[in-house]
Amino acid sequence: MATPTGWRREGNLPAELTSFVGRTRLLANLKRHLGESRLVTVTGIGGVGKSRTVLRLAHQVRAQYEDGVWFADLARLQDSGMVRHTIASALGIADQSSRAASETLSEWVGDRDMLLIIDTCEHLVQGCAELVEELLESNPRLKVLATSRQSLHLPYEHVVPVPPLQVPGDDPAESLFTNESVQLFAARAGAVVPDFVLDERNIGAVAELCRRLDGIPLAIELAAVRLRALSVEQIVELLADRFSLLAGASRTALPRHQTLRAAIGWSHELCDPAERLLWARLSVFAGDFELDAARFVCADERLPAERITDLVTGLVEKSVLLIRSNHAGVRYKLIDTLAEYGEEWLDKLGERERMRQQHLDYYLALAQRGEDAWSGPRQIYWFVRMRQEHDNVRVALEHALRTPGSAAQALTLLSSLWFMWVCCGFAREGRLYLERALHANPGVSKERCKALWVLSYVRSAQGDSAGALEAAEQCSSEAVRVGDSKAVILASKMQGTAALLQGDLQKASALLGVAIEFNTDNKELNPGLLPAIVELSLVLSSQGELYEAESLLVDCLQVFRERGELWVSSYAQWALSITRLATRRTSQALESAREGVRIKRYFHDTLGTLLGLETMARIFAADEQFETAAKLLGALQQNWRTAGLPMLGAPFLTGDHERCIKECQKALGEAAYRAAFDEGARLDLDEVSALALGELDTPDA
Ligand SMILES: Nc1ncnc2c1ncn2[C@@H]1O[C@H](COP(=O)(O)OP(=O)(O)OP(=O)(O)O)[C@@H](O)[C@H]1O
Ligand SMILES: [Mg+2]
Repeated sequence: MATPTGWRREGNLPAELTSFVGRTRLLANLKRHLGESRLVTVTGIGGVGKSRTVLRLAHQVRAQYEDGVWFADLARLQDSGMVRHTIASALGIADQSSRAASETLSEWVGDRDMLLIIDTCEHLVQGCAELVEELLESNPRLKVLATSRQSLHLPYEHVVPVPPLQVPGDDPAESLFTNESVQLFAARAGAVVPDFVLDERNIGAVAELCRRLDGIPLAIELAAVRLRALSVEQIVELLADRFSLLAGASRTALPRHQTLRAAIGWSHELCDPAERLLWARLSVFAGDFELDAARFVCADERLPAERITDLVTGLVEKSVLLIRSNHAGVRYKLIDTLAEYGEEWLDKLGERERMRQQHLDYYLALAQRGEDAWSGPRQIYWFVRMRQEHDNVRVALEHALRTPGSAAQALTLLSSLWFMWVCCGFAREGRLYLERALHANPGVSKERCKALWVLSYVRSAQGDSAGALEAAEQCSSEAVRVGDSKAVILASKMQGTAALLQGDLQKASALLGVAIEFNTDNKELNPGLLPAIVELSLVLSSQGELYEAESLLVDCLQVFRERGELWVSSYAQWALSITRLATRRTSQALESAREGVRIKRYFHDTLGTLLGLETMARIFAADEQFETAAKLLGALQQNWRTAGLPMLGAPFLTGDHERCIKECQKALGEAAYRAAFDEGARLDLDEVSALALGELDTPDA
């Protein structure tokens, strides 16, 4: 599997799925503006091609930005409070620290030479404007390209309107055949009717059609679909009827958005009633979705589940749904403007709340399946899947938190997703939501108990040991009140974790011991038993009981192998490298540390990777490879800045870190140490991991 996006320098641009037509002048214009200004906003009506043009531009200019071009899509985001998170997660920033999201975002961007594209800002203009202003102020080499139906109203913003495509007749000297709109129609027509060619016989009608559609790309694409059943002339004729109806009603010339409405409305009518209903219902999804989700959320007696596949295919054929397939499977997406239209219908049908509830139910069930499966052989699948479903999870959570009577479901959904918050790099977002949901559910309950230990876990992952302890203690006392013995055990595990982070080894050992003792008959390995064993081994190592620590870990690794569990096993490898280093078996230590870091690459586990690299720096130093060690120290300092609290603030780690620095300085001399350190500080996480894993051929030699 590929490395997660945030670790790569080149950015995260989506691929272009269909051919791109024309726009030479506009693209040149945009490049010029981008050269002169740090904020360019592309504006225009829905469906005119803002997103597509910007994506084309992004692919063209990507080589000019040393640190890549990054794309964040806000189309289906409803809560302006989540703009920062959405952008941070598009950038792949590990969301671990307990500081404000804006701080991390700014720090991560730092002096990176990069272009950030924020697609679809119009519904969150205020939030976007504030964020963009902040980012541009503190990040001197950053450029921002936004798309929005309206400008962000910032003083230094360059606004570039996207007009519709040229239509035949705009330039009398131009041949009809080379006109942009005509070209777009021909390209899409070719996809519908493979032997379609533009020729002298049909060019007149195609030109007329493009003029009628005002050169709006979305309208042209929707009309082209009609070729399956109609000739170009028939399309023009039918469209003329529609427009005269509309124009008759308003008695004025058709403004462009009415053209678009008409084109969409026409597509809508083309759909059979079941397709129309599905179109409306699918508008509850944020971003893309799987067929299985559509079946669960949208089916009922009016739309039987077994028909959904065919109906989805019908909507793909009519260009209403986009289809995306990759190694992880096939996903579908409603084109933005069409999703809005669907939403209006859903409101008219009075089904919005019911669909939102079903959407929530689906993601609740999915989260619970993920939770149950997390400790097994499909862990990476679930990691990838939940990352893909992130936008939908947010929408489901927002719905639950907003809807009276569903707030308890928000707790359940959030708690089931502990593996997403803790293991997949979204600790900060999880914390924010958990705190909101707990606030909305003040009455003592089992659901609350679970949310409390999850909150504690998340806070530990942020290095906030005091906060973690507080949540775990509260969990413990509420769990006793509701008689939830499982939560009592997990509370003790989480208290133990917090104690370890605070350096209270005795307390940690006692609490983790209790959690392990009461957990052994329990089949549930994660997040209680296995992490508790690994953490206990860390306590034992710190207390010098290396043999005991190692034998715990070796047993534990056996269980991981049997179960196919990878995530905790990578921590166990790391813990093993610590005991091996302490007993001067450096090559074995390096081997397990490397195995740990290799596994972490599959997950977005920045925290775990940095912890592994910390130990590797010490291993290299112990092996007298001081230059490599110093490079790692430089990279660590740089990368901890955005990942969270260095070494989680845990005394059993910070002391070793300081000693390692001193050792390297002494061995290399200050100047050579500094040079290696600075060189390391320029490496991103992917590069420093490659260095530590011995994948680069420039070790100390
Ligand atoms: N120059 C072009 N060449 C080919 N296809 C295009 C072009 N411009 C737009 N399209 C297509 O037209 C459709 C609408 O374009 P797009 O989604 O970019 O519009 P938009 O202005 O971003 O709309 P919205 O305001 O709804 O976000 C898309 O399917 C897009 O691929
Ligand atoms: Mg768009």
